Amino acid sequence: MTEVKYVFDRLGADDVDALVALESECFSHPWGAEQFRLGLERKVFYVFGLRHGDALAAYCSLYLVADEAEILNIAVRPGLREAGLGSHLLGMILQISAKMGMKAAHLEVRASNVPAQRLYAKFGFEQVGVRPKYYPDTGEDAFLMTLDMEKSSGRG
Ligand SMILES: CC(C)(COP(=O)(O)OP(=O)(O)OC[C@H]1O[C@@H](n2cnc3c(N)ncnc32)[C@H](O)[C@@H]1OP(=O)(O)O)[C@@H](O)C(=O)NCCC(=O)NCCS
Repeated sequence: MTEVKYVFDRLGADDVDALVALESECFSHPWGAEQFRLGLERKVFYVFGLRHGDALAAYCSLYLVADEAEILNIAVRPGLREAGLGSHLLGMILQISAKMGMKAAHLEVRASNVPAQRLYAKFGFEQVGVRPKYYPDTGEDAFLMTLDMEKSSGRG
């Protein structure tokens, strides 16, 4: 990790503008303000982030349903990647999920997204299936990955 301090925090309605800006830097089909606002207001999902002063360096969104977590998205600001921020954020989220009694975590990732797959594999996620041609923009497959949180103890 770099010397700069990053503060882990739960994000809310006041962070929507920063989340939208980060999304558009990271994804070709970014989530919009309304998606974040509604989800946060209605407590449909949780969003956690790493703050660097007033700026948002990274974020991760997830659903918690019964005893399972669904990681919706994780993104690190482009200039800050490959410095351990993604690992730090995901590690914190998995620890919190485990403390809240989650027994498994699931996610979908683009077949071409090797950096993300490696990040997930580092924490013990395993590929358990494929959704063929899942992404309408490129027609590429989604890999389904699952972490058995009862076996793993938040490694990474
Ligand atoms: C995926 C992402 C969140 C990783 O964040 P990061 O801060 O760069 O991750 P870390 O520095 O903690 O690296 C974690 C692991 O990922 C892998 N990794 C990260 N970047 C990589 C790259 N460019 N190529 C190959 N592996 C990479 C490595 O295995 C690394 O572990 P190691 O450092 O112990 O070798 C970041 O690349 C990102 O924001 N990508 C764009 C958004 C995205 O695709 N999100 C995933 C949606 S499913």
